[in-house]
Amino acid sequence: MDGLEAVRARYLDAIAAAADEDAIEAVRVAALGRKGEISLKMRELGAMDPEARKAAGPALNALKDEIDAALRARRAALADAALEARLAAEWLDVTLPGRPRPQGSIHPVSQVTEELVAIFADLGFAVAEGPQVESDWFNFDALNIPPEHPARQEHDTFFMARAAGDDRPPHVLRTHTSPVQIRAMLAQGAPLRVIAPGRVYRMDMDQTHTPMFHQVEGLAIDRDISMAHLKWVLEEACRAFFEVDRVDLRFRASHFPFTEPSAEVDIRCSWAGGQLRIGEGDGWLEILGSGMVHPKVLAAGGIDPEAWQGFAFGLGIDRIAMLKYGIPDLRAFFESDLRWLRHYGFAALDVPGLAGGLSR
Ligand code: PHE
Repeated sequence: MDGLEAVRARYLDAIAAAADEDAIEAVRVAALGRKGEISLKMRELGAMDPEARKAAGPALNALKDEIDAALRARRAALADAALEARLAAEWLDVTLPGRPRPQGSIHPVSQVTEELVAIFADLGFAVAEGPQVESDWFNFDALNIPPEHPARQEHDTFFMARAAGDDRPPHVLRTHTSPVQIRAMLAQGAPLRVIAPGRVYRMDMDQTHTPMFHQVEGLAIDRDISMAHLKWVLEEACRAFFEVDRVDLRFRASHFPFTEPSAEVDIRCSWAGGQLRIGEGDGWLEILGSGMVHPKVLAAGGIDPEAWQGFAFGLGIDRIAMLKYGIPDLRAFFESDLRWLRHYGFAALDVPGLAGGLSR
């Protein structure tokens, strides 16, 4: 059949020129669709005489197959090109270094506070809180420090101003965390097991004192609590905190108005080679004050001293942070020097826990 060669060339050119899916489909319909050119020619075969049909039939079939194959190939090529384009556009260099993010760090005081909370939580102590601006009753009277008591002077208290004409006793910036003992007793009653970490204030400033510092108070009240419980709890806590297998604690008789008897507690340490080691050596370092809660303090907290007794302790957080992490100057804690914070700070996600290790 004449002209088939021209038809073939026309469609192959059109297929090669088709730039997208729609163009390819248009060529397919024009050639092979129900009313397409090739389809119509094939229908004409029926009207031919057998000789002519024998020649034209295979040629037409071959042409139909060729065009069909060309359409498929063009479709596949377009799809490949589209994929290539996407791969080129959405290319990402996974070997590039990560973008630096603004970096913060956890202050050693916050870190040590969290460590202590984790340790005492493990020993069954909940966290209690109280205000930093405290009434003088909670800070002093309820703790068996009446107005004329000399301990009031020793505390170097900051007083809040009262409005003119208001002659009630002024509030104070709490000088210790002990008022939280009273607040916890009044709020929860006995039995009771709490620690109270927080800021305290005293008018004092030199290399080992700042006007604001941190304490953690401990209080356990039950029917038969003794100094032995106090000693065991402190030993357990110190072993966990300093991450050593053994500690030696020394209880020295002392005096606090709110405990009776009272003891200051030292921990055995060595300074050999200029390096502090807890739990060995001949040195002793004072780390906290403690004692059995005074009956008057229990009564002020609404707890019957005939039925209940307890121990309490107070420990300087900044001090033991310096000891544990080898930080020489207390004042640097509160200067907000970023270089210092980067050096002594802790990663934000290193949450202290007894299982994973307190500090890493
Ligand atoms: N509150 C005391 C201080 O600030 C410490 C202390 C607390 C002592 C509890 C005994 C019992 O020094």
